[in-house]
Amino acid sequence: MATRDVVEIDLELVGRLIASEEEKLRTAQPRSIAYQETAREHLPGGVSSSWQTAPPHPIYIDRGLGSRVWDIDGNEFVDFHNGYGAIAVGHAHPKVVEAVQRRIALGSHFAQPTEDALIVAEDLAARTGLPLWRFNNSGTEATLDATRLMRAATGRDLLLKVEGTYHGHHDALMVSVFPKPDEWGPRERPNSVAQTPGLPQSYVDLTLSVPFGDVEAVRRAFDEHPGRIAGMIVEPAMTNVGLLLPPDGWLAACKEICHANGAYFAFDEVKTGATLAWGGAIAAFGVTPDLACFAKSIGGGLPCGAIGGVPELMDLVERGRVDQVGTFNGNPLTMAASRAALTEVLVPNAYQRFDELNRVLHDGLDKVIESYRLPAHLETMGAKGAITWRAEPLRDYRDGFDVADQPSYLSWLWQLNRGIFKSPWAKWESWTTSVAHTDDEAQRYVDNFAELAEALTA
Ligand SMILES: Cc1ncc(COP(=O)(O)O)c(C=O)c1O
Repeated sequence: MATRDVVEIDLELVGRLIASEEEKLRTAQPRSIAYQETAREHLPGGVSSSWQTAPPHPIYIDRGLGSRVWDIDGNEFVDFHNGYGAIAVGHAHPKVVEAVQRRIALGSHFAQPTEDALIVAEDLAARTGLPLWRFNNSGTEATLDATRLMRAATGRDLLLKVEGTYHGHHDALMVSVFPKPDEWGPRERPNSVAQTPGLPQSYVDLTLSVPFGDVEAVRRAFDEHPGRIAGMIVEPAMTNVGLLLPPDGWLAACKEICHANGAYFAFDEVKTGATLAWGGAIAAFGVTPDLACFAKSIGGGLPCGAIGGVPELMDLVERGRVDQVGTFNGNPLTMAASRAALTEVLVPNAYQRFDELNRVLHDGLDKVIESYRLPAHLETMGAKGAITWRAEPLRDYRDGFDVADQPSYLSWLWQLNRGIFKSPWAKWESWTTSVAHTDDEAQRYVDNFAELAEALTA
């Protein structure tokens, strides 16, 4: 129940506005619409990942430069989607382009180590305090390696995660990602729900979940499965229900409970790493896990993944007890791009810039939400932020079901038709800025939102 005094949004009006905004978008993107039909002949849904398509149609991109992207119809957008948060350096950053061009001319793959990997590992160690790193090719591979290491080190099979977080598409963690209300079970002891058909039930049963921010639920999970949980993996700030920051003390309490029970504690920093702060969530929230999974922004736009850990766990890799492997692990192109991104672009000054941009966004959007008394709230940190169409802040994933679908979707369409590109599935996704974004571009986001607020409340 909202305690703020907010207006009631007229859903019929929202429906009419959605219809006219969809029509506007269809008129602006005939080639994307036609291309999907052609692409469907060989690509299911016309796309390469199921999350690349969302209503009303997938948007095919031609190119990007700095803060801007252009679709295949020639429309230009300021990019706040930023490849699901992977482009904090901006598109085609000259330092990254130069590093990749230099490297590709020298050969792009040997399945043997190259020297850049150590520089990237040194940088990540400095940011996180975790001394030992291995590379792979995606966030999925990073969290896969983390679960394997925690299981190997403990000899236990069960994993604990947070209900409603996504950690990639491997079997161990594609559990309780976006469960529906009729699948939930009790809040304090959620059911384990397969995210997709194709997961063996025996795998699903090995992954338990708890609500974000609930210390007692974590304690209970360990009490109810004594000596069986290998470790817990959390996204330290949830980035797929808008942006949900951890309650004070929750991360430290989880770590303590894990350790008290002989289990390990891992951060999934695939989205928060090198975006929330220079040192990612570890620095932002002051808790160092046993393992941290990085990907997305650390690659400067190339496919990447990394796992860092304490010596006790990484020693299993050092001694060959756990095979941490992959043909393209630490591949020279990614390492060159990553080195440039981390050591030349995403340097401490960049985070001051992210704060400045977020100040423009936060102050402006907050003023709009307050003055129009919108049933929405706002969260921002580092390069990330989100408007969530629910008057009161969320506590966890289940609260996200009170977020209004239609205003979220309208807001996404509205911004798109006014030159701002945000992630599809707008109800859930946070924005990511880049070092190339300007204050004027942030202000444009705010102005569009104010115009929407006016249209909704006129
Ligand atoms: C928090 C989190 N972890 C892991 C992943 C998986 O990363 P990838 O898509 O690179 O496999 C994602 C992807 O969106 C993510 O948001």
